[in-house]
Amino acid sequence: MKPIATPQILSLKDIEAFKTIVGEEYVLIDEEALHNYGHDETEHLLFLPNAVVKPYTTQEVSAILNYCNEHKIPVTPRGAGTGLSGGALPQLGGVLLSTERFNKILEIDERNLQVTTEPGVITEVLQNTVKEKGLFYPPDPSSRGSCFIGGNISENSGGPKAVKYGVVKDYVLNLEVVLPNGEIIWTGCNVLKNSTGYNLTQLIVGSEGTLGIVTKIVLKLIPLPKYDLLMLVPFTDLEKASEAVSAIFRAGFTPSGLELMEIDALKIVSKMVDSHAVPVNDDIAAHLIIEVDGNNADVLMNEMEAISELLIQYNAGEVFFADDAQQKAELWKLRRRVAEAVKSSGYTIEEDAVVPRAELPKLIKGVKELGKQFGFHAVCYGHAGDGNLHIRINHPTIKNSYGNTEMVEALKALFTLVNSLGGTISGEHGIGLIQKPYMHVVFKEANLKLMRSIKQSFDPNNILNAGKIFDLN
Ligand code: LAC
Ligand code: ZN
Repeated sequence: MKPIATPQILSLKDIEAFKTIVGEEYVLIDEEALHNYGHDETEHLLFLPNAVVKPYTTQEVSAILNYCNEHKIPVTPRGAGTGLSGGALPQLGGVLLSTERFNKILEIDERNLQVTTEPGVITEVLQNTVKEKGLFYPPDPSSRGSCFIGGNISENSGGPKAVKYGVVKDYVLNLEVVLPNGEIIWTGCNVLKNSTGYNLTQLIVGSEGTLGIVTKIVLKLIPLPKYDLLMLVPFTDLEKASEAVSAIFRAGFTPSGLELMEIDALKIVSKMVDSHAVPVNDDIAAHLIIEVDGNNADVLMNEMEAISELLIQYNAGEVFFADDAQQKAELWKLRRRVAEAVKSSGYTIEEDAVVPRAELPKLIKGVKELGKQFGFHAVCYGHAGDGNLHIRINHPTIKNSYGNTEMVEALKALFTLVNSLGGTISGEHGIGLIQKPYMHVVFKEANLKLMRSIKQSFDPNNILNAGKIFDLN
């Protein structure tokens, strides 16, 4: 990938100052490091920072921000770099601040069902660690094996379990945050209810690293459900599959996962991971992956049977039950690796639209029409139970939406449709760098003005992840 030019802002004196704060070996300026930290998973975009700085303590983060604030140096915070909206791209050069050394789970409070962790812990590691104590932290983005919990907080991530258990914001109780001027605060306290002033905790969640750098996180945990069942249901018609989604809830069920995978997505991912777990015959257009969980296996079995019966009305084909842990793991692996698989086969542009659940069929129909109109092929998958559709776009000549007038026009049309269906731009990937052009499609200027003034009151010098979510002027 060729880098898109960034300004050189740092002087040798600045580099020396960072070395004094974090130690020589944790300030990287070699070409290879700048490349490695200059991209995330968003499109084909690479911006080289001037330096990568890797602090180890909250005090070090504070000292870096204090210095950068004083010298008006742009700072881009970065977790594991798995983002899909370009939130961690250092498009202004300056400092790339990596939280990777904040990799400790600090305390599991089994009395209160809480965990305190640093932001650079891999989400799945956190989940597995609390699971050993019979506890459950549900938000599980597809990238959970590599993404950081801190990044999940920045984007307010979701994942398949969100449909029953909610998203990251529903689990965050309290955050230690370093403000752009270097001041350190706790946003709230470790309690389950809190009506004490403005909710700074929830303001930081989903703020995409623009308001402060999170250095400690207190999360709520819940008891781990004992059982789960998983089935895969084929449909000959994509829109019918999406109509079935809201019918399941209307019939009184709340699955712990309700995912949609269009057939092209399944074909591509099966090929990439060399899996024959799901045989694909030609008349299948899409599958729903449906999971239920709870503490009574018989109840779950009855629910699964009732759901499959209901789906017959939507022309569902023969249901495949995942019988054992291995089959379940295989199905989830196929689902979780879709984004990576379709990207590597040319679907480089990813949208994360969300609409009220029952509007999903209209969104899918509209996406296909826009594809014809603008000359791209789209493959749809994602968290159908949440009305959250990932739309992967393969255009014969345009590989990035960023900076491309034609694709930006197409996506404006997409979000105009999404808005008309009562939905919005992103359910879980955030706005970052690449979704900025569409903010005015879903917000009034008054909304954007409020957001800008919040940013300005946290970060008057606009040093922290500037130019993400919106531009200040
Ligand atoms: C997923 C990611 C892309 O659902 O959000 O696979
Ligand atoms: Zn997703």
